[in-house]
Parts: sequence; structure tokens; C-alpha cells
Amino acid sequence: MSDDETVEEYLFKIVIIGDSAVGKSNLLSRFARNEFNAHSKATIGVEFQTQSVEIDGKEVKAQIWDTAGQERFRAVTSAYYRGAFGALLVYDISRRATFHNVARWLDELNSHSDTTVARMLVGNKCDLENTRDVSLDEGKSLAESEGLFFIETSALDSTNVWTAFEIVIREIY
Ligand code: GTP
Ligand code: MG
Repeated sequence: MSDDETVEEYLFKIVIIGDSAVGKSNLLSRFARNEFNAHSKATIGVEFQTQSVEIDGKEVKAQIWDTAGQERFRAVTSAYYRGAFGALLVYDISRRATFHNVARWLDELNSHSDTTVARMLVGNKCDLENTRDVSLDEGKSLAESEGLFFIETSALDSTNVWTAFEIVIREIY
């Protein structure tokens, strides 16, 4: 294939961060493979998957990185963030502690990346309305005060998963 036949392509790295068990790996598997695992194990180290999205008629490839929320399972932090264009910062709407820790994840993100990184605050597990522990408004106002995009998602029933990634990819692109 000659050069002029090469299709123009974009590859963007996006990282997912947040406490253990907020659903980072399931958001990724829902987005990349349309799969959900009710019994997923804690991530050890780093994994990534790619997914293509069509934006304004162009194919954009997102390379999504997923790491352990648990400190003891995490790999070298600076390598994880290196070259990232976007970040999803995830908490679990049914566990307030995970929302509380968003500030810590934001600090880590800020110290390892520059301000041009597209940042999205994600309140996952919005299917758990009965055991909700963080209101929609609390999520919204934290995002507003920190200059983040905001969305609530459910990896279980697919609500807003595609939209969350698409907003970040559009912002990068
Ligand atoms: P670490 O790898 O330890 O950092 O955790 P994680 O953030 O990757 O969480 P994971 O995706 O493994 O999900 C943890 C648990 O939450 C699993 O039992 C999932 O099935 C469940 N879970 C993930 N997303 C959702 C969701 O949207 N709704 C509900 N109800 N459960 C979810
Ligand atoms: Mg995981």
C-alpha cells in the first residue's frame, strides 16, 4: 500500500482513575467490548484496550488505560499518566468515601499531567438509585468548582458509558 492510500488516523491515550471497585474496569469493558462482569476481580498493574470512534467523519482511535485503584496493586504512576490526552475520574454514587477521595485522585492527576488534559468526573453505578449516597447535584458542583466535565454512568445497564468517552474524545480532538 502506498503512502497516499494510508487513511488518516488519530490515536489518543485516555486514563481511568479512581478508588478500587468504583467500576473502572467495567466502564472500559462496556465501552470497548460491550461486556459487563458482575464478579470482576481487582485490577493488578495496568491494562489497556483500544476502541474506534467516528467524530465528524474521521476515525479516532482511543487507547484507554485502566489501572488498580488499590495502592498495592498499582504500577509506576508517572508512566501511567505519560502522554495522556484525557482522563476519567470515577467514583461510585453508592459509596461516599469514593467521592471524598476524588480530591486525592485529582491531585495525583494534576501533578502528573498538564492542564490541557480533558478531565471528566464520572459518578458510576447510577443504576443503584436505592442506595445512592452522593446526589447528582453534589457531583455537578464538585465538577464545576474543579473545571471538570461531569456525567453519571452505569456500566451495568450501559447508561451514558459511550457518551462519557465520546465527550472526552471530542474535547481532545
Ligand atoms: P479496581 O480494579 O480494584 O481498581 O476496581 P474497578 O474500579 O476496576 O472496579 P470493577 O470494574 O472491577 O467493578 C467492581 C465491582 O462493581 C464489580 O462487582 C462490578 O460488577 C461492579 N460494578 C461495576 N460497574 C457497575 C455499575 O455500573 N453498576 C453496578 N451495580 N455495579 C457495577
Ligand atoms: Mg479494575
